[in-house]
Amino acid sequence: MSDKLEKIVSLCKRRGFIFPGSEIYGGLRGTWDYGPLGAELKHNLKQSWWDSVVKSNENIFGIQAAILMNPKVWQSSGHTETFNDPLIECKVCHERVRSDQNEEKKHHEEWHKKRNENIDWTEPKKFNLLVEAKLGVVESEKSSVYLRGEITQGVHVNFKNIIDSMHPKIPFGIAQIGKAFRNEITPGNFTYRSREFEQMELQWYIKPDQQEWKRWFGYWKELRMKWYLSLGMDKDRIHFRKQDSEELAHYAREAWDIEYETPFGWRECEGIHDRSDWDLSRHSKFSGQDLSYFDPETKERFIPWVIETSGGVDRALLFFLLDAYCEEEDRVVLKLHPKLAPYKAAVFPLLKNKPELVSKAKEIYDSLRKEFSVVWDDRGNIGKRYYSQDEIGTPVCITVDFQTLEDGTVTIRDRDSMEQKRIIISDINGLLN
Ligand code: GAP
Repeated sequence: MSDKLEKIVSLCKRRGFIFPGSEIYGGLRGTWDYGPLGAELKHNLKQSWWDSVVKSNENIFGIQAAILMNPKVWQSSGHTETFNDPLIECKVCHERVRSDQNEEKKHHEEWHKKRNENIDWTEPKKFNLLVEAKLGVVESEKSSVYLRGEITQGVHVNFKNIIDSMHPKIPFGIAQIGKAFRNEITPGNFTYRSREFEQMELQWYIKPDQQEWKRWFGYWKELRMKWYLSLGMDKDRIHFRKQDSEELAHYAREAWDIEYETPFGWRECEGIHDRSDWDLSRHSKFSGQDLSYFDPETKERFIPWVIETSGGVDRALLFFLLDAYCEEEDRVVLKLHPKLAPYKAAVFPLLKNKPELVSKAKEIYDSLRKEFSVVWDDRGNIGKRYYSQDEIGTPVCITVDFQTLEDGTVTIRDRDSMEQKRIIISDINGLLN
C-alpha cells in the first residue's frame, strides 16, 4: 500500500471515519464500517449529489428500490450470464487473482520469486460477481436470491410505475442512491474495491435518436465532472477516459470513466454509460410487460434509450479524502470542502475551568447544533484543539474567551489560512452557511 494511502487508512481508523468491517472477529475482507465522522462525510457527499442531480434538474425522480429482487431480474439484465471477471489461480499456492489486474499478478509473482519459486497460472475462467443469498422460512424450500450487483435494475423495473404515477415527459430521469454487492476476486486499496459499497446513479431516458443522444450524453458528462470540481477536487488529478470496446460492460454501447489520480494510479470513480434500450427491451421481453413510452406530442410509441451516470459513493469519499490530505510543517490538515466536512465548526471555551466561559461557549454550541453539525472540544490547550480539528477537516474553530463576555465577540480561526479574526456571535450562522 502506498505511503499516503496508509496514512489515510490510519487517520480514518484513529479519528472515527472508517473501520475494518467486523473487526473484533478478525474482519470480513472487502467490508468497511463508517464511524461517526465517516457517516457524516458520507451523508454530506450523498446530499450534495442528490441536490445536484435530483433537486437541481427538472423531471428527475428519486426512488429507493429494494436490494433483494426477483432473481429473474438478473437473468433479464444479463448479469447471471455476463457479469463476470476473468479469474486465474496460482498453481503453487492456489491464490486467486483477476487476470486483467497486472499489479496483483506481479505482486504475487514477486512474492514467490523471493522464495526462489517459479510460478505458473491456470487459464482464465469466468467468475460471476453476483452475491447469492437464501430466502425463505422452510429450510428445504429456501430460494436463492442475489444481492443486487448494481442499483440500476431497481430503477428499470420501476420504469412503468414512474410513467403511470408521475406522468413524466421525455426526456426524464430516475435517480437512486444505495448499496450494491459484488463478490470481487481481489478487494483492496482500502475501500476502493469492496464487496459491499454504495452507488449513486441516474438513469436518463431519451428518445431513441442520435441527435438527442449526442446532446444529452455531453450534457451529463459535463455536469458530473463539474460536481467533483465544485467540491474542490484538484482539476489536475481528475480526467475523462473513454473505455476501449473490450472493456465495455455487456449493457454498454459507449462508456466514459471519470478517473482520479490516486497513489495507486488513475482509477475509476464514476462511469457515464450509453445503455441504449438494453435494459428496458430485455425487461419487456422477459417480464411480458409493455415498457414502451408513448409520446403524446408526436403520437409515437418507443422504447427509450438510457444514458446512465453511475458513481461510487465510497470511492468518491476516498478520493476526496486523498485529495484533501495535506502535511504541512507542523500539522496534518484535511482541506475538505466545507459542504463535505463532517463538522462545520468546533466550539471551544478558552479555559475549561472557568464556568462563565464554559457556559457561554455551551450556549453558542447548543444554538449552532440546531442548524449545523458542530463539535464541542475542551481538551488540552487551544493549539492542540486546532491541530485535532485540522486533522478531521473542520473548516472553522470558534473560541469563547474573556473578551466574549465583555463585547459579545468570539475568535474565529480558519482551517486553511490559520488566520484568526473576531466576529460578533450573531454573525456566526452567516459564516457557516
Ligand atoms: N450501473 C453501472 C455500474 O454499476 P460500474 O462501473 O460497474 O457501473 C459504477 O460501477 C461505480 O460503482 C464505479 O465507477 C465505482 O465508483 C463503483 N464501484 C464499482 N465496483 C465497486 C467496488 N467493488 N467497490 C467500490 N466501488 C465500486
